[in-house]
Amino acid sequence: MILEAQGVIKRFGGLVAVDDVSFGVREREVFGIIGPNGAGKTTLFNVITGFYKPEKGRIIFQGVDITGKKPNEIARIGLTRTWQIVKPFLGMKVLDNVLVPIYVKRGILRGISEREAIERAEEILEFVGLSHRRDFLAETLPQGERKRLEIARALATEPKLLMLDEPAGGLTPTEMDEVMEVVRKVRESGVTVIVIEHNMRVVTGICERIMVLNFGKKIAEGTPEDVARNEEVIKAYLGERFHVGG
Ligand SMILES: Nc1ncnc2c1ncn2[C@@H]1O[C@H](COP(=O)(O)OP(=O)(O)OP(=O)(O)O)[C@@H](O)[C@H]1O
Ligand SMILES: [Mg+2]
Repeated sequence: MILEAQGVIKRFGGLVAVDDVSFGVREREVFGIIGPNGAGKTTLFNVITGFYKPEKGRIIFQGVDITGKKPNEIARIGLTRTWQIVKPFLGMKVLDNVLVPIYVKRGILRGISEREAIERAEEILEFVGLSHRRDFLAETLPQGERKRLEIARALATEPKLLMLDEPAGGLTPTEMDEVMEVVRKVRESGVTVIVIEHNMRVVTGICERIMVLNFGKKIAEGTPEDVARNEEVIKAYLGERFHVGG
């Protein structure tokens, strides 16, 4: 397992947002986290990546206990996340958006020339299909391209494990396909991916295994097909759109 969460509890006052959740992610798989609104998915991401300290439980990344470590320390050892509401530097050019995390990662640690950094940024833009936007301001990009720019910025930190919070949220079907293609390529490049996603077409299209959260609790885990047939999962989603292929 590249990542293990053991008995994680995170409370906000009286609300138990993450309620004794344990799971493991295998190296080089795409692991999905689904669940209705408010189920605790983003909170769990925030605990894993060090933005919140859990009241209980442990997070083990590559055999190292990272519970309570700071987000930048966690990113430095290879665990990077994106945000549900994407936050590129809107007033900056697309290329510069990717250069910043490259300099943060390489500039300080090993030293990198400007030319090397630009080449690396261009490679990453090519990888996510944004070469044609290199010199555009980030604010001019449509939502689907902003989501891919966010993934590009995360890749610039050279993660071993990439955690994506609703990378297809609010996108058109075509934009979703483009994001799915990027996720597949990321995984083929040897990076493990955890993805929070609502859309079952996206989930079944990219995830080997998924875990379902409801009111902070894990209620199911398995292949997308198994989970979609699980009675408790279907109950949790009553009133919401939830069907494989939809
Ligand atoms: N900083 C916070 N302070 C207080 N309550 C919070 C905080 N963050 C989240 N919550 C609450 O914790 C619960 C879980 O929220 P979370 O954002 O993790 O859900 P989610 O599964 O990501 O939902 P969505 O699908 O809408 O993104 C919700 O009831 C939410 O209101
Ligand atoms: Mg969320």
